[in-house]
Amino acid sequence: MSDQAKTYYLQIFGCQMNERDGETIAGLLESMGYERTEDREIANVIVIDTCSVRENADKRFFGFLGQLKRIRLSRPDVTVAACGCMMQQKHIVDTIKQKYPWVDIVFGTHNIHELPEMLSKVLESKKKIVNVWDEGGEPVEGLPFHRRYAFKAFVSIMYGCNNFCTYCIVPYTRGRERSRKPSEILKEIRELVADGVKEVTLLGQNVNSYKGADDGEEPLTFAGLIRKLSEIEGLERIRFMTSHPKDLSPELIQAYKDCPKLCPHIHLPVQSGSTEILRRMNRRYTKEGYLELVGRLREAVPGIAITTDIIVGFPGETEEDFAETLDLVRKVGYDSAFTFLYSPRKGTPAAEYEEQIPEDVKHERFNRLVDTVNSISVEKNRNCVGKIYPVLAEGPDQEGSALQSGRTPEHKLVNFEAPLSVTGQIVNVEITESNTFSLVGRIVE
Ligand code: SAH
Ligand code: SF4
Ligand code: F3S
Repeated sequence: MSDQAKTYYLQIFGCQMNERDGETIAGLLESMGYERTEDREIANVIVIDTCSVRENADKRFFGFLGQLKRIRLSRPDVTVAACGCMMQQKHIVDTIKQKYPWVDIVFGTHNIHELPEMLSKVLESKKKIVNVWDEGGEPVEGLPFHRRYAFKAFVSIMYGCNNFCTYCIVPYTRGRERSRKPSEILKEIRELVADGVKEVTLLGQNVNSYKGADDGEEPLTFAGLIRKLSEIEGLERIRFMTSHPKDLSPELIQAYKDCPKLCPHIHLPVQSGSTEILRRMNRRYTKEGYLELVGRLREAVPGIAITTDIIVGFPGETEEDFAETLDLVRKVGYDSAFTFLYSPRKGTPAAEYEEQIPEDVKHERFNRLVDTVNSISVEKNRNCVGKIYPVLAEGPDQEGSALQSGRTPEHKLVNFEAPLSVTGQIVNVEITESNTFSLVGRIVE
């Protein structure tokens, strides 16, 4: 890097959507001549992409801002920009204006493409810009992006969410559902594959309701999109995140059978095992309905790995409701699960519900749930020992290391010794050891 190079530091909080947005932010800044640095003490531009899904996400952002204050005030030439889901909430932007007036740019989830313009303006005028769009229109296509991984890639196929689960802030921060055109998705993935990508993960808050149409064409369903993507030569693996149980179509289950590139894994957030709590969460399925769906998936795709998200301590959750969750977890036998303490989000219906659960009760249930989930994961992983899986070798864990990691088709993380030459290839790995969250293996012919 030359001494004069302008640099940026990018901090990303939140989910894969934000990770993918971060690649676009990086691409836009690089197209303006900035180079990435991991040292915020020397960066000319600092961008923070925020998440608002739970209260601790908010807290982490404000903690981070607190650390930046010294840098920003001691080096007035630094530009600090905050963006992402938190910025779509008025009360957060008000707090920034009042308590962190030195933040130079505030933008949201719908106008990332305006970053270069905003940055140029701030640099010229030294005046602060707050520019958050309420809603996004047609997805903006063709923005540059800087890929984080060499052999796998995240591809957003839709934005926003229309489901309004009563605990969730996402429909407010990401706006209404908008699907990208199939031709744009195909073009992006063909380019990724030409650039060495073997595996794509299709992203959307609820990919099952994907409905993208090219001009003058019939809209394509999610399963239809997968079928099209399957035909791309050189693309070896297709994954997706995440799908809402209420919209999981028989057509998608059929696609697992017909498309060998579609990996035998599904992340199917259940949130609770109590039908009454599910009703109050506005999830629009029952415990029995969910279990039936799992049965159909297992029947169609033997060996499919199933993972989930579960919230503990939703308002009004009784010990009996919680027991239903534990029962469902045991019946499904999840390969792994993300577990969350219910966190009231300002502006969502559930935050106003009476009967908020005391923190100690939430924590006690949470610990029991984690124990149950982990004991099942241990067992599932133990069952992998002795078996051979095709694993995409993602490269040494650090420079010079002989240890690589990768994922099985079921999305299980495997660590194994491998020569540099196999990086980026799908290799057969025999599992020799298992842990709660990962496997250990060795390459075999
Ligand atoms: N669209 C995705 C979820 C995105 S948020 C889906 O529906 O599958 C990721 C997870 O965060 C959710 O599945 C939920 O388990 C959790 N979550 C969302 N809001 C929450 C809240 N207020 N408190 C605790 N967990 C929450
Ligand atoms: Fe949130 Fe529900 Fe939409 Fe998922 S489906 S993003 S949990 S509102
Ligand atoms: Fe967080 Fe926004 Fe993702 S709230 S979970 S970064 S969609």
